[in-house]
Amino acid sequence: MVASEATPFIKTGGLADVVGSLPPELKTLGQEVAVVLPWYRGARVPESRPVLGPAPLWVGQSSYQARLHVSEVRAVPYYLVECPEVFDRDGLYSPPEGQFPDNHVRFAALCKAALLVARRLFRTDILHCHDWQAALIPIYLRSVLARDPAFLGVKTLLTVHNLGYQGVFAKYELAGMGLDESIFHPGFAEFLGDVNLLKGGIAASDAISTVSRAYAREIQTPDYGCRLDGLLRERADALYGILNGVDYSVWNPETDPHIAANYSAADLRGKAVCKADLLKRMGLPGEAAHRPLIGIVSRFTGQKGFDLLEEAAGVLHSEDVSLVALGAGERRYEDFFRSLAAHLPEKVAVRIGYDDPLSHQIEAGSDLFLMPSRYEPCGLNQIYSLRYGAVPVVRATGGLDDTIDSSTGFKFEDYSARALAAALRAALAAYANPGEWRRLMLNGMAKDYSWRKSAAEYAGLYRRLAPESRPGPKTST
Ligand code: ADP
Ligand code: GLC
Repeated sequence: MVASEATPFIKTGGLADVVGSLPPELKTLGQEVAVVLPWYRGARVPESRPVLGPAPLWVGQSSYQARLHVSEVRAVPYYLVECPEVFDRDGLYSPPEGQFPDNHVRFAALCKAALLVARRLFRTDILHCHDWQAALIPIYLRSVLARDPAFLGVKTLLTVHNLGYQGVFAKYELAGMGLDESIFHPGFAEFLGDVNLLKGGIAASDAISTVSRAYAREIQTPDYGCRLDGLLRERADALYGILNGVDYSVWNPETDPHIAANYSAADLRGKAVCKADLLKRMGLPGEAAHRPLIGIVSRFTGQKGFDLLEEAAGVLHSEDVSLVALGAGERRYEDFFRSLAAHLPEKVAVRIGYDDPLSHQIEAGSDLFLMPSRYEPCGLNQIYSLRYGAVPVVRATGGLDDTIDSSTGFKFEDYSARALAAALRAALAAYANPGEWRRLMLNGMAKDYSWRKSAAEYAGLYRRLAPESRPGPKTST
């Protein structure tokens, strides 16, 4: 597998949870799996050993000094690409302000390093690539490396975690990625005069998957296809929807070390302790313990639907309710949440930033969890919420639609403030009825979204792609 982030090393969103937890589960199903990741400045690497280099890594006409290290997580080797020129910076995809101008080169270096791992360190039947940052691999295999004997018969699977991020670069960057114009046509990686890596990857991969069935359907329509719906319809036979699983060794209120008190469906007393603790941490008054508490943990981007909350903020004024939000991202949404907290200091508290322990405390302390996404390929927080007894209020899209139903939460269809407000009011009315609320919580807590089923679906897809593959010694030279 090749990806730009994975727990426990580095995380900005759900991709990291997936790449950190799917491979160990595949391993328990008998798959031999390794992961290749950048070694960013901010990465936490508890233990590792160098396995290759320093050696020149060629990307186009440039060569970078790189070293490969391996770190084992639950018996899976994670190969970390140390290449300081491109990865030793503040930020994964962009600096705190502005943009990295050379992301095409940075992730080309990741892909080249992954191919080196496949050539030299880990015998590979399938290259499973995640998002546009790894999409150059299928592109290389169908173009400049098409005749390379090392990759004859090697299959590619591209998993799209979010069609909103496509990796679009100017045509003159082709050479910098080690590509020529042969891929620059509308049937491959060209899109409206630019190079579009995700498009090229979708065109070139043996199979494509995305992270819920509903999103796999949605992206074939103009409304959700981010202008690639035509290509996705053409490739419908090779397109699969496999729901993300959850790592319940990390997200479980019975064992979670970050929360004030552990609890379970059989004994919910700890949840009230967690709520009181969360209110205190966030500086909300203790009396708020008697009101329903809405939690939000999110990247703040247009995808997540907070413009609807902005328009529906009247609900927070008129209803007896509190809200805690944790997130970071676009200034516009950070400002909105800050001003909401300034206007309603007794009811609303906001933390701008990234804070893993607090994200667990919000799941544990909240009564409701809000995700009004415009689109959501899978979404993990609503699934975590189910297990923590924080009843999800979600827009019926993508993975939110696939994982929440009326027995476990509240859904609205229309992307409108009115529909969001109606769903919130329905949830608050249900909260007022303790018997009904307890039923909702317990139904959600009983759901099992562990990886077992989804990892078996990936394993089935791998077998379909490479029926001849042999489990066996990992190393070849
Ligand atoms: P996405 O990948 O689109 O951000 P997901 O719901 O799949 O959405 O996953 C988000 C993951 O990132 C969750 O594990 C969530 O807890 C975490 N997360 C998002 N924002 C923050 C934050 N500000 N602080 C801590 N964790 C966060
Ligand atoms: C993306 C999506 C999110 C999904 C995650 C992991 O970031 O926005 O819905 O859960 O990837 O697949």
